[in-house]
Amino acid sequence: MSSSFSSKLPDLATSIFTEMSMLANQHQAINLSQGFPEFDTPTFLKNGINQAIVEGKNQYAPSTGLPELLTEIAQLVHRQYQFNLPEQEKLDGLNEVTVTSGATEALWVAIQTLVRPNDEVIVFDPAYDSYEPAVELAGGFCRHIALNAPNYTIDWVKVEQAINDKTRAIIINSPHNPTGSILTASDLNRLQQLVAAHDLYVISDEVYEHIIFDDLTHESVLRYPELFKRAFVVSSFGKTFHCTGWKMGYCAAPAELTTEFRKIHQYVTFSSFTPAQIAIAQMLKNQPSHVTDLAGFYQQKRDLLINALQDSRFTLLPSKGTYFLLLDYSAISELNDRAFCHWLTKEIGVAAIPLSPFYQAEQLAQYQQNNKVIRLCFAKNDDTLIKAAKILSRL
Ligand SMILES: Cc1ncc(COP(=O)(O)O)c(C=O)c1O
Repeated sequence: MSSSFSSKLPDLATSIFTEMSMLANQHQAINLSQGFPEFDTPTFLKNGINQAIVEGKNQYAPSTGLPELLTEIAQLVHRQYQFNLPEQEKLDGLNEVTVTSGATEALWVAIQTLVRPNDEVIVFDPAYDSYEPAVELAGGFCRHIALNAPNYTIDWVKVEQAINDKTRAIIINSPHNPTGSILTASDLNRLQQLVAAHDLYVISDEVYEHIIFDDLTHESVLRYPELFKRAFVVSSFGKTFHCTGWKMGYCAAPAELTTEFRKIHQYVTFSSFTPAQIAIAQMLKNQPSHVTDLAGFYQQKRDLLINALQDSRFTLLPSKGTYFLLLDYSAISELNDRAFCHWLTKEIGVAAIPLSPFYQAEQLAQYQQNNKVIRLCFAKNDDTLIKAAKILSRL
């Protein structure tokens, strides 16, 4: 490459997930770093995709998504979040949902749809890593606000102070990666007020929507018709059906916003993998209990890990949703979180993710003064979790 080539994303390095997984492989450590399930996708879904391929359903799907999948998604949303809304306020699958190649594509397209040069987008640190590059490539700028540790809640006074003439959108993520925190009804009401008062839009990353614990409620933006009028709601089948490698997701937005979203989506991927769309539509229709059982399935894993770490010197932070648990290691080491994770992987044999890469430099300095925290992924088989916890309890 010519040395005069100027990168459009000069500050971007290899992602922390790739870095830690490579290190885990190199040192044969138990990999609780990258967030993917160790178990397989349901047999019904695998049979469905095989059958679709064998039956020759191998050509382009409509760019918007197969109608049967759009309809199943809308019905899922009606069952989960909109059972008490009047019919006319319920999500319209055919006109308000677009199937995408993973939540990553949905986030990307939503950001390109919304963000214009010099617009500002509010994101909360620690923030999932795909938001900022997408905002920057649209010519915008991320304004970072740190969540309040150790419960990782939003300080709405800070949000209001950060809003200015250039602010275009706020990106929220609940249940939250990497912290496992969730937004409450009071957060959503506050968001709705701010969005209406300042003419803003919301991108709501809800990829862990079905993984929420202790009978808590997932406060989807889809429960709030007024807020939904100004929102793009993103979800991922990869998280719900243990098939992260299929890269299947969707975006729900009001018809007018969906029309704009679809204009861009058709020139990013045009459409997503047809056999997977067929199989997922059948799965949603015929095995609806998979979605409703998911929270219980992961809660058992969370509790198993928590119990197995009870005698360790880590302080366990609350995990209200997602498949992540945060551990405070300040009683064990003085190292910063990245160095601690490297040491843990190489010397101790367990790979975890540091939280620092999820922070912008400015927010990070302040955060690191008071916090020594790493993230474990518990989407793993029980014996893997027990083995890892035994090792960690010796520290
Ligand atoms: C918060 C969050 N958003 C989006 C994604 C991307 O989802 P997908 O794999 O469906 O693109 C992930 C995946 O880890 C995630 O954790």
